Amino acid sequence: MTIQTVTTTPYPDQKPGTSGLRKQVSVFQQPHYLENFVQSIFDSLDQLDGALLVLGGDGRYYNRQAIQTILKMAAANGVGQVKVGQGGILSTPATSCVIRKFQALGGIILSASHNPGGPQGDFGIKYNVSNGGPAPEKVTEAIYARSQRLDRYKILEAGDINLDKLGETQLGSMRVEVIDAVADYQALMESIFDFDRIRALLTRPDFKMCMDALHAVTGPYARQILEGTLGAPAGTVRNGIPLEDFGGGHPDPNLVYAHDLVERMFSLTPPDFGAASDGDGDRNMILGGNFFVTPSDSLAVLAANATLVPGYRSGLAGIARSMPTSGAADRVAAKLGIDCYETPTGWKFFGNLLDAGKATLCGEESFGTGSNHIREKDGLWAVLFWLNILAVKGQSVEAILQDHWATYGRNYYSRHDYEGVESDRAHQLITQLRAKLPQLPGQTLGSMTVDYADDFSYTDPIDGSVSERQGVRVGFTDGSRIIFRLSGTGTQGATLRLYLESYEPDPHQHGSDPQTSLAELIEIADQIAQIRTLTGMEQPTVIT
Ligand code: G6P
Ligand code: ZN
Repeated sequence: MTIQTVTTTPYPDQKPGTSGLRKQVSVFQQPHYLENFVQSIFDSLDQLDGALLVLGGDGRYYNRQAIQTILKMAAANGVGQVKVGQGGILSTPATSCVIRKFQALGGIILSASHNPGGPQGDFGIKYNVSNGGPAPEKVTEAIYARSQRLDRYKILEAGDINLDKLGETQLGSMRVEVIDAVADYQALMESIFDFDRIRALLTRPDFKMCMDALHAVTGPYARQILEGTLGAPAGTVRNGIPLEDFGGGHPDPNLVYAHDLVERMFSLTPPDFGAASDGDGDRNMILGGNFFVTPSDSLAVLAANATLVPGYRSGLAGIARSMPTSGAADRVAAKLGIDCYETPTGWKFFGNLLDAGKATLCGEESFGTGSNHIREKDGLWAVLFWLNILAVKGQSVEAILQDHWATYGRNYYSRHDYEGVESDRAHQLITQLRAKLPQLPGQTLGSMTVDYADDFSYTDPIDGSVSERQGVRVGFTDGSRIIFRLSGTGTQGATLRLYLESYEPDPHQHGSDPQTSLAELIEIADQIAQIRTLTGMEQPTVIT
């Protein structure tokens, strides 16, 4: 086996976004495209020589080929050992778990998360560091800088590894271990949750659960843990076999893309509990019978009930949420007398808070919830957390939320997405909005008065790093907020996200449809930002 050094030239577009490098499959299939990026990762890492790396992906189209290439490049670049998930499968949370458990230098995850897959879909690659979390900006910037100067990469000339057979093989001077994709993750879940109580709930004849894995990576994890270990009836997990194109669907657990699940949960005889996860298993959506739990409320409920779960019995150090996530968790934190941190969008911003022991639970409005057990958000963990709470409280999902709102008040919340907006138009909208910000405070819009208007800037309390321009916020004197942000994860055109929130303390007013409660804010948002005019869209493409 010889090491080849291949001459290459830089691609200008290898700048990682919110969550790694995410592009259409056809972009990744250009000659040397994947190789260039992987070499840029390797060149940016100190201590690569002899190191342990973790490798896996969400099973989408191009996963297997990419894994073979990366293994051969790792061997040529002096990596000591790679643990790779069987069949090339490892969910994002499982990768984080394995990195931490075996103190690996880092891990490479092949996924475009919730973006569609298949030859016409998207592919992605992200690097996680030794704490198991997404690479911080200084690392991704170094990778990008390297990619812009790259003139060669190294790859071992060798045959493919059998990814389906568990066990160790040698690739040049590197050891490759094909690992059970679920086992380490399952052991971690068993150390956190009360599996006996959850088993008692899931085997009750009057309790029905439906988990939709959307043909993505959570399938094997959910089937083994929920149906295998916890005794849920076969068929509890739907669409549980990962497919390269996710069955043609959009593996994003929200009310629009998880439509089959939503239909079942909003039927005449719905299951008691419904959940879905995304392409790479880090997102979650939680539903009760005829009831949707917003991700912001889910974080607040988990926080308020955390001590019911063995892993959090001794309480929480703090809570962290992304800026556009509703303030529901802040109210729980205030009652518990703990800190609540507000970070920019992107899980990586939680890493320092978790490492420093300042936050135990974290959550984002984008269907992400997690804790200090790993350094990624974790879809199935959230599902098990909810099951543990349901098992202990013996209430329905809806009753839990109603009690919660009665105690803390309700933060009405909705996100409107305008997808596929022409990029120039979207940037124009944000630029015009920024220009207006200084004049907004004090203005009366509809029945509301603007309290503050700014572009969110975050100073990390641990390392002092500053992240600017993380979303335009307009806050009103009654505590309502409107936030405007451009998505950092799309691959075509731009997506405008509009986040709307208002607070209602009165329990008699907790039963409204959020779109009705937020109608005035929706109108004001259009007035401030000219959304309809500039996007050319009358309605958002997705409302959650
Ligand atoms: C990924 C990250 C999340 C983040 C989300 C934002 O899923 O892992 O932490 O919240 O992207 O996506 P957006 O499209 O709004 O930039
Ligand atoms: Zn994801």
